Amino acid sequence: MSLDKNNFNYSKKAKLFHWFFVILFLYGVAKQVDNINQLEDIVFLRFEIFFALFFLIFLIIRFIYMKKTQKSSLPENTPLVQKNIAKIVHNGMYVLLAATALSGLLIGFLYSFNIKSGFAIETVVMMHEFVINLLYLFVLIHVLAATYHRLKKDGVWSSMVPFFKEK
Ligand code: HEM
Ligand code: HEM
Repeated sequence: MSLDKNNFNYSKKAKLFHWFFVILFLYGVAKQVDNINQLEDIVFLRFEIFFALFFLIFLIIRFIYMKKTQKSSLPENTPLVQKNIAKIVHNGMYVLLAATALSGLLIGFLYSFNIKSGFAIETVVMMHEFVINLLYLFVLIHVLAATYHRLKKDGVWSSMVPFFKEK
């Protein structure tokens, strides 16, 4: 692991992690469970659990890599309040991505132990849905912020995004 922290560009590995996760997240949302009874299908249940485990393990590896080797591309002179908001949104997305997978795993765990209805599983499903909806909000704020930086042409967009690069 190279310790090439810098302030203007993310490494190839960092970009790969970021965009691989965007695809994984979109796939996770597209193949979402529409109805809890779908989990009756044991092959489907196992696949959901496998997917969530894979998602979580990769997220942890990404998080460690990013914290050890990379730094935000926000310019030095960015107001402290803006730097802190960016940190909250970035770390918040990590927490919410992990909470999505963990609450999903908990649903799978309860279901595997025949707890298929009632207060416990209903509460966890509600938490799972709440976390996902909060995550949508954070991703929306994140993409709006990235677009704002693209318009500002301060290099933040191009440090992570491979298209519509600033000249
Ligand atoms: C599921 C969707 C997304 C998630 C969960 C996500 C998450 C993150 C996270 C956690 C970071 C901080 C660096 C890191 O730890 O990797 C980051 C950085 C960044 N992302 Fe995303 N991202 C998403 C989609 C997008 C999209 C669609 C764009 C632009 C079109 C974008 C643009 C950026 C930029 C420009 C940075 C660098 C910000 C900086 O250096 O302060 N992201 N993203
Ligand atoms: C990272 C992995 C996962 C992602 C990205 C994900 C994504 C989603 C999404 C987008 C929804 C719809 C939320 C809403 O409508 O507000 C949902 C609902 C749900 N998910 Fe997940 N999920 C994951 C893991 C799991 C796992 C492992 C299980 C169980 C084995 C599971 C069971 C459910 C159930 C029961 C619902 C509610 C269905 C209903 O409306 O009755 N999810 N999930």
